[in-house]
Amino acid sequence: MEMESPSPFPSPFKGDILKGKVALLTGGGSGIGYEISAQFGKHGASIAIMGRRKNVLDDAVSALRSLGIPAVGFEGDVRKQEDAKSVVEATVKHFGKLDILVNAAAGNFLVAAEDLSPNGFKTVIDIDTVGTFTMCHEAFKYLKKGGLGRSSSSGGGFILNISATLHVTASWYLIHASAAKAAIDSLTRNLALEWGTDYDMRVNGVAPGATGDTAGLSKLMPQEIMNKTVEKLPLDKVGEKWDIAMAALYLASDAGR
Ligand code: COA
Repeated sequence: MEMESPSPFPSPFKGDILKGKVALLTGGGSGIGYEISAQFGKHGASIAIMGRRKNVLDDAVSALRSLGIPAVGFEGDVRKQEDAKSVVEATVKHFGKLDILVNAAAGNFLVAAEDLSPNGFKTVIDIDTVGTFTMCHEAFKYLKKGGLGRSSSSGGGFILNISATLHVTASWYLIHASAAKAAIDSLTRNLALEWGTDYDMRVNGVAPGATGDTAGLSKLMPQEIMNKTVEKLPLDKVGEKWDIAMAALYLASDAGR
């Protein structure tokens, strides 16, 4: 099964830039998360993906393995600290260490602020923001310089948090996701400061705009609005999952240090 976005371009990177690395991706079974999983795997990494839906995980793992990528899936919900802990531990048990954490899991739906219940707001904050922090928190002891499973010669590991551009200005009917992604950008900067300084870790973010062929786009932007939006874009197209994965690949590689 081929789940990646078709791209007319070959990767601009050498095929071994993540050779020997172990990556864990939340939301790695679909959308942007899957595309990053596949591209990291194609460039040498072993891949663990975490998600709530077993069928999505199974399909993604089969697709990754059919590309020759060592891959494993672990069921879990980033809102549950015990799931975050057990999936990080299972990844290290399976592959021997952890080098890269990508937080791509997210929840979203279109709703006017006056119709959104506080629990609906909290649900998205819990998945996106608290989930991202919880995964970072549980992965830290393996990712820090000198951490569990790390060789004495390797430095600290890498965290990539996927946010969005919703909060740069304001977005209709996305107050929950906008607030959640703004908070993710904030925690990315703070972890980069604290863990970069003290533990030789890199913590970066990628903030995609509307991205083609994702659940987010089909759920949040009806085709009619999409067509009008694209007309106004200078390149007449929205970004592709491949674009995001290539940015992620560069940041995860040693060239991104
Ligand atoms: N509109 C308004 N409120 C909604 C909603 C919608 N479309 N979907 C959920 N909510 C509210 C619920 O009403 C509930 O609040 P309440 O208790 O006050 O009624 C709260 O959110 C929790 O809903 P629930 O269905 O229990 O949450 P869940 O954990 O099962 O679902 C979601 C999580 C809501 C994020 C779900 O949409 C999801 O899992 N989506 C898939 C991931 C995704 O969206 N990916 C794209 C990322 S861009």
